[in-house]
Amino acid sequence: MENCLRQNLIKEINGYYEADTTKLSEREMEFPASGYYDKGQWERERAMLLRFPVMVGHSSSLKKPGDMFTRDEVGIPVIVSRQENGSLKAFQNICRHRGARLCNTKSGAKKTFVCPYHSWTFKNDGSLLKIPREEGFPNTNKADHALVELPVEERHGFIWVVHTPGATIDVAAFLGPLDEELASYALKDYVLERDVVLEEDMNWKFVLDGFLEVYHISYLHFESIGPYIYGKYSPFDAFAKHSRLVGIRKSFDRYRETGGDPENFLEKVAVNYQLFPNTILVWQGDHFESWTAYPGDKPEHCRVRVQSMTTARMAEEDFTARWDKNWKILIDTVVAEDWGISKTVQAGAQHVKDDKVIFGRNELGLQHFHTEINKETAVKAKTRGPARALEALIE
Ligand code: FES
Ligand SMILES: [Fe+2]
Repeated sequence: MENCLRQNLIKEINGYYEADTTKLSEREMEFPASGYYDKGQWERERAMLLRFPVMVGHSSSLKKPGDMFTRDEVGIPVIVSRQENGSLKAFQNICRHRGARLCNTKSGAKKTFVCPYHSWTFKNDGSLLKIPREEGFPNTNKADHALVELPVEERHGFIWVVHTPGATIDVAAFLGPLDEELASYALKDYVLERDVVLEEDMNWKFVLDGFLEVYHISYLHFESIGPYIYGKYSPFDAFAKHSRLVGIRKSFDRYRETGGDPENFLEKVAVNYQLFPNTILVWQGDHFESWTAYPGDKPEHCRVRVQSMTTARMAEEDFTARWDKNWKILIDTVVAEDWGISKTVQAGAQHVKDDKVIFGRNELGLQHFHTEINKETAVKAKTRGPARALEALIE
């Protein structure tokens, strides 16, 4: 984060301290609670995910040529493979013979992929190498039966895939102004410290909801992180479909009293970057976490890839106990508290009066995220109070 942005944020936060308030939007917004259970909406959101670059993993998990992993969370089976020249390729994990799943390995090193059904063999560049009993296929040109490629790009240490063959991918353009901001953290030098996929019985959007307002921190988390992080004083900025929300640690009190040196600003805050459509990237003061949520097998089910990234030095063995402790706090707080309460929302969603939930003026991140999701799935939200376009808040 550049120094001038740190200075501006310090000034903004000092203003909130003095006024005892936070960034507020013009008015509350009403959203349909059915967005959390409606099957048609769930299908539109699944289709939407195929149109955007989705963060599928971390570059450091594919170090050497031949390193590969498979992914299924979007609903299309995918292989991502490191090539001889160091670049990446992504393919549909679907055999070009009769469509069987080609590779069942979650991650490993493979120069070829052999289909378990009839042993058609593909090189890890996607080309079809061998058809056993080739006399059965005199009119099948191998060159026309390579694996179907998906657009893939590495940026900021992450691997992004657009799950639509033939689509273009330009992550920098997609991130817009956040691209430069993320570059300032030198994320590409971080290494993957932990990587898990969790399955939960709740809509995927709840995962992002939990990171898009600090309002609940003093109440829901009053015993866990509430004593350490403010549930107010939270700068929020939208960048096209993405956003940045800054959470303030209570150690900011002393920091500001002693002059608030911008150099140390990032130790006093947590920064939640919402990367549309389905990732939250969190700066935690000394490392990053990412939460990428996917619609699951039905509207009330989701899968979540949680990664934690640290510097190479901090990934060494003597830090293991620290990360174990850190991970436990993280999972205990988010899974037990945030997702615990979200499941109660899920359970009652069909009975919410008039199908309306309210996102307050102090829940700007939710207003923005759900507005963008609904724009992409053609759902209209209602506003409360004087109308002024939310777009006015979006740079
Ligand atoms: S389906 Fe893969 S070899 Fe037949
Ligand atoms: Fe929370």
